[in-house]
Amino acid sequence: MESLQIRKCQPRLDFRRILEIESVSFASDSYSEHTFWYFHQRCPDLFIVAEYEKTILGYLICCIYLQGRKQQRRGHIVSIAIDPLYRRRGIGKALVQFTLDCLEELSVSYVEIEVRIDNEGGLSFWRSFGFQKTETITGYYSDGCDGFKMHKYFEVFKTE
Ligand SMILES: CC(C)(COP(=O)(O)OP(=O)(O)OC[C@H]1O[C@@H](n2cnc3c(N)ncnc32)[C@H](O)[C@@H]1OP(=O)(O)O)[C@@H](O)C(=O)NCCC(=O)NCCS
Repeated sequence: MESLQIRKCQPRLDFRRILEIESVSFASDSYSEHTFWYFHQRCPDLFIVAEYEKTILGYLICCIYLQGRKQQRRGHIVSIAIDPLYRRRGIGKALVQFTLDCLEELSVSYVEIEVRIDNEGGLSFWRSFGFQKTETITGYYSDGCDGFKMHKYFEVFKTE
């Protein structure tokens, strides 16, 4: 998809479509519009969308936190979803790659995500970027399903 554009989310223009993608992707675990507003306020720079011919096909939210005595920067990919009709065409990869490049430029030490343990497609997706399982979080999801925490470490972390 050559003319796929990755850009910052513009809530008033994009939320209706993001909410559609969210509900077909996550069903009862879907975020509400209120939650999207919260994350947009909290992390406006890395709340991004993938747009193709003026249609949003996916979104990703990533937040950066300062942690510990050294105030190390940690990235947290809060959510990503692609319209089911457009999956396996590299759109998720484009959103994640854009985000990883930004995090690396900002000298973030590592980035983490949570994935349902039964989300095999999601687990393969994250492994393809070098994320590794580090923890199981019991009952993390609303239906009681466990989650895996996965991490990817950047060079800056390895040399600290
Ligand atoms: C997971 C998700 C974001 C992937 O987006 P996508 O645009 O379909 O992924 P891409 O086409 O960029 O895939 C990149 C690579 O990830 C892996 N991958 C992606 N989806 C996969 C699947 N269903 N099964 C196995 N591997 C998969 C493959 O290695 C793929 O490369 P390939 O197609 O060349 O083999 C998408 O399936 C989705 O929105 N799922 C529902 C929501 C969700 O589970 N979000 C993640 C929660 S942590």
